[in-house]
Amino acid sequence: MKTRLYRAAIAGTGSFLPSGRLTNDDLAKMVDTSDEWIFPRTGIRSRHIAGKGENTSDMAAAAGRRALESAGVRPEDVQLAVVATISPDSPLPACSCLVQTKIGLANATCFDISAACSGFIYALDVARQFVETGAVETALVIGAEKMSAITDWTDRTTCILFGDGAGAVVLRRAEEEAGGGVLSCATGTDGSLAPLLFIEAGGSALPTSVETLEAHRGFVKMDGHTIFKHAVRNMANIAGKAIAEAGLKPSDIDWIVPHQANIRIIQAVAKSLDTPMEKVVSTIESTGNTTAASIPVALDLAVADGRIKAGDNVLFVAFGAGLTWGASVVRWGS
Ligand code: UT7
Repeated sequence: MKTRLYRAAIAGTGSFLPSGRLTNDDLAKMVDTSDEWIFPRTGIRSRHIAGKGENTSDMAAAAGRRALESAGVRPEDVQLAVVATISPDSPLPACSCLVQTKIGLANATCFDISAACSGFIYALDVARQFVETGAVETALVIGAEKMSAITDWTDRTTCILFGDGAGAVVLRRAEEEAGGGVLSCATGTDGSLAPLLFIEAGGSALPTSVETLEAHRGFVKMDGHTIFKHAVRNMANIAGKAIAEAGLKPSDIDWIVPHQANIRIIQAVAKSLDTPMEKVVSTIESTGNTTAASIPVALDLAVADGRIKAGDNVLFVAFGAGLTWGASVVRWGS
């Protein structure tokens, strides 16, 4: 039995994409690939790449500041800040602690969540429960990644996919009768499939050494073909669950804001929900896969350009390493 005292409403959104760009043609000069191979298989033409000294916490702070501005919330009024990332500036401390200082979230408890491409939905699910129980009034949820730092730029099977960026939402306490807010969150995990998408070295099991550096064992490795199939199946299933838990039908969803891993995955998920692509927000052509940042970046874009409006039912759905997956239905407030 789930109970909530309040609704968690999304009061503001923000995003940040670094100015550096890497096109498919640029990649073709680095590895044996081409725009003709990449674009039809992924939907990606270019991705944003952070500059030297432009770190995950900088991008997270920029997105977070913009979300606070759009919500009209002062940094000191944020009581909880959760950053979803698999590419923190360093293993210690949590990226969110650096973000706290950069934004001035003096009164916030801060921690990170590591759930790869599902990270934003996991973070949203955790933060919304703090708000729904009344534990906090205002929370900042950020997805931020500098994937370029953990990508093997000699591996054509992965380096074509990823990009850098950050997105954020502000959650505020709202009355249950207010109508808008997070209606549902559903998540799942299957750790037995972890070897399909992983970074082998750089943790306590296999610390970075000359050998791991030389063998490129500190970068993302993926069985893309198998991951693709798990992504489609799990995203479709978890989306259906989140929609049902929100008391809605797929036809009630006005916008799908999916994780941006591959346009063919997005199309397959939309098809499974019988939703036309006109109702799907996609940034993948110009961002690639920004892991935990991809949903809040796409969301901010669709809010800023006026596509998502008050009263709309918006579905977030994601899948990533772990394996992890998650979906959330939000009714957009005024
Ligand atoms: O964010 C969540 C996690 N990530 C994902 O959800 C990604 C899921 N997977 C995918 O998007 C796709 O599997 C990829 C786009 C990564 C790969 O597409 P694919 O159609 O599954 O290709 P494949 O891995 O089966 O490779 C087909 C062929 C292979 O050659 P052979 O063995 O048939 O001769 C690869 O070596 O394409 C080759 N190949 C490439 N050729 C040119 C692989 N990568 C490239 C490349 N350029 N970049």
